[in-house]
Amino acid sequence: MVKEMKATYRTKYGLPDAIQVKNIEKPIPKSDEVLIRVHATTVNRTDCGVLTGLPLVFRFFVGFPRPKKAVLGTDFAGEVVAMGEKATSFKVGDQVFGFYDEGAATQAEYVAFSEKKAIAIIPPNVTFEEAVASLEGAHYAINFMNKVDSKAGQKILINGATGGIGSALLQFMKYKDNYVTAVGNAKNIELLKSLGADKIYNYEQEDFTQDDELYDFIFDAVGKSTFGKCKPLLKKNGIYISSELGPRSENIFLALFTPLFSNKKVVFPMPMNIKKSILYIKNLLEQEKFKPVIDRIYTLEQVQEAYRYVSTGQKTGNVILKIKE
Ligand SMILES: NC(=O)c1ccc[n+]([C@@H]2O[C@H](COP(=O)([O-])OP(=O)(O)OC[C@H]3O[C@@H](n4cnc5c(N)ncnc54)[C@H](OP(=O)(O)O)[C@@H]3O)[C@@H](O)[C@H]2O)c1
Repeated sequence: MVKEMKATYRTKYGLPDAIQVKNIEKPIPKSDEVLIRVHATTVNRTDCGVLTGLPLVFRFFVGFPRPKKAVLGTDFAGEVVAMGEKATSFKVGDQVFGFYDEGAATQAEYVAFSEKKAIAIIPPNVTFEEAVASLEGAHYAINFMNKVDSKAGQKILINGATGGIGSALLQFMKYKDNYVTAVGNAKNIELLKSLGADKIYNYEQEDFTQDDELYDFIFDAVGKSTFGKCKPLLKKNGIYISSELGPRSENIFLALFTPLFSNKKVVFPMPMNIKKSILYIKNLLEQEKFKPVIDRIYTLEQVQEAYRYVSTGQKTGNVILKIKE
């Protein structure tokens, strides 16, 4: 049996140039783990955080002063090839997908992953690439969505609707029968229409904050706007949620104080249970109510290029790293 595998590898926080692809020892599953032959993983914005260790506070989770894991990657889609002695939820041959936002060493030919974490069977109508593209951005989108109690017909605005988070959030809010205004750039107007946007702003030519409609919820899924700019667009009791802390890290303070002093508030999207997200995603994939957006597909050898592209903040939906042909 082969004891080595190809994997991404780095031992310090840094830039994409520091990522090597080398042969390392293949993992052996612990008692509650399954061993997965990875077919596809993504390079996403969480991976960029794990690579750079930025923002610095993230190092409390991914390792201080050095990364806990040398192999990169947070998500996977692949096939179960071996089981730990106490793992019973899956069997050899199952096609599974999973995600762990603190790093799971998935940018490799094999990964050992606990069956207690966020892992599920891939629905039969879904490819490995589609399955893995349904995890990171979709999980954060669900996290945004669950912070508000939206009712059918309510008005939502999504800034950054073309990103990994935004493109999933747009589909989830349409699934809940909301009216959605999407903000993206010229090259993606057709995509935003196909995802169901009711109204579209091309941010290169138009300023969505001049909109004359009022919204129940504004999701800034790219963190390029602020509560101050969006506040006039919010209805009474309207909520603003951003993927970022804000230019002066103000969103944490605003989340504490706006509920006390204003009838329009900021909510901070503290992360929620990833296991619940994967079940929600799996259900929508099965019903064909969610189709992840895939931008580029790279090979493992092109991993540096993939990270450079994702780090620009200009990807559309998801970027795949195909590990097995
Ligand atoms: N720290 C972490 O671990 C972490 C993890 C996940 C996400 N996040 C944050 O969450 C945000 C979204 O993540 P993501 O994965 O969805 O990002 P992403 O896939 O890189 O998407 C960002 C999208 O926003 C668009 N965009 C850029 N400038 C814009 C503007 N001024 N107005 C509207 N749209 C604009 C980009 O497309 P064009 O440039 O082509 O228009 C791109 O499609 C990011 O800000 C990221 O930092 C952080």
